[in-house]
Amino acid sequence: MSMLMTLTFSTESIRSTRTFEKTLAFTIALKVRQFSDQTAQKLEKKESINMRPLFQALSTDIICVCCFGCEFNIITNEDDPANISRTTDLVASHLWKGSRKAGIIDSLLDASQAGTWESPDQELLVEQVFSLVFAGIDTSSIALTSGFWHILSCPGVLRRLQEELRSTTPDIGDTYDWKKVRRLPYLSAVVKETMRISSPAPGRFPRVVPPEGVHHKSSFIPGGTTISSSIYLIHQNPNLFPEPEKFLPERWLAEDSISLEKYIVAFSKGSRSCPGIHLAYLEIYTVLATFFNRFDMELLSPTTEEGLAWSDHGVAVFKSPLKL
Ligand code: HEM
Repeated sequence: MSMLMTLTFSTESIRSTRTFEKTLAFTIALKVRQFSDQTAQKLEKKESINMRPLFQALSTDIICVCCFGCEFNIITNEDDPANISRTTDLVASHLWKGSRKAGIIDSLLDASQAGTWESPDQELLVEQVFSLVFAGIDTSSIALTSGFWHILSCPGVLRRLQEELRSTTPDIGDTYDWKKVRRLPYLSAVVKETMRISSPAPGRFPRVVPPEGVHHKSSFIPGGTTISSSIYLIHQNPNLFPEPEKFLPERWLAEDSISLEKYIVAFSKGSRSCPGIHLAYLEIYTVLATFFNRFDMELLSPTTEEGLAWSDHGVAVFKSPLKL
């Protein structure tokens, strides 16, 4: 992983810098608030809402504001909220025309000027910028789509989640307390189960064994061999997760569930694992907490009988829109 990515979203840079985490949480809460106000208007008019493009637009806005300090407000574009090519143009012109405001990339460039670390050249920076935007949009919005569908399909889960949220954070729309939200036990169980069952990037991420080879248990794998494991198959392993096809947040409340957490591999593991993990968790917690606290929503499509069908195109692609 590049220096830029490592510094931007690594566990150390986010977790050890409390102010940074607080600022990110605050920024994301504002965006989610704006999105939920917009949704409230539609719900009042009893309009049906196609959530997936809205989640894509929200994820784009969040990444752009957190990384580049720019407010594109794609979420408010009613005609085509998730227009990716428009986003590309916006980000490119923002970086090129020198109108940068405070964002993570700007902080890194400033640190570079101060001699704290060496910034990458412009070509590499651009490549990294676009990786950040594209790697984060689809994945986060898939997790949210899947989470909403599963919660709304399971009346018991919905009831318990709303009870927890409404009794502990009744004023969530006005004052968003990230520290409190992330500690809510049932919401946390719902988020973990969402990450397990949604597997937004379900496939295999290949790795090449270094020239000297590796010993694994009783086997030797020669250097140069390409190996991989499937995120989806790990999440669906019944030995780890009994009844894996069922959405059961309760599995994360059992006493020994802490030992299961290492098997949530949605963000992959190791040195090439997802650098956006903390940003993604912030977004997913904030959207679920805000929406299920604020609204009573009903699933229109796909119905529980139809199920949430998807296929693997590098990321999960749903067969029909999520309509509320
Ligand atoms: C639910 C949300 C997300 C999931 C499930 C997810 C999952 C993944 C996975 C599985 C990888 C591949 C890691 C590997 O090769 O082993 C990855 C890479 C990556 N992700 Fe995410 N991601 C999510 C959100 C984000 C966000 C929000 C961002 C940026 C803000 C982001 C930026 C990246 C980047 C830049 C890479 C490439 C890292 C590299 O090449 O070393 N991701 N992600």
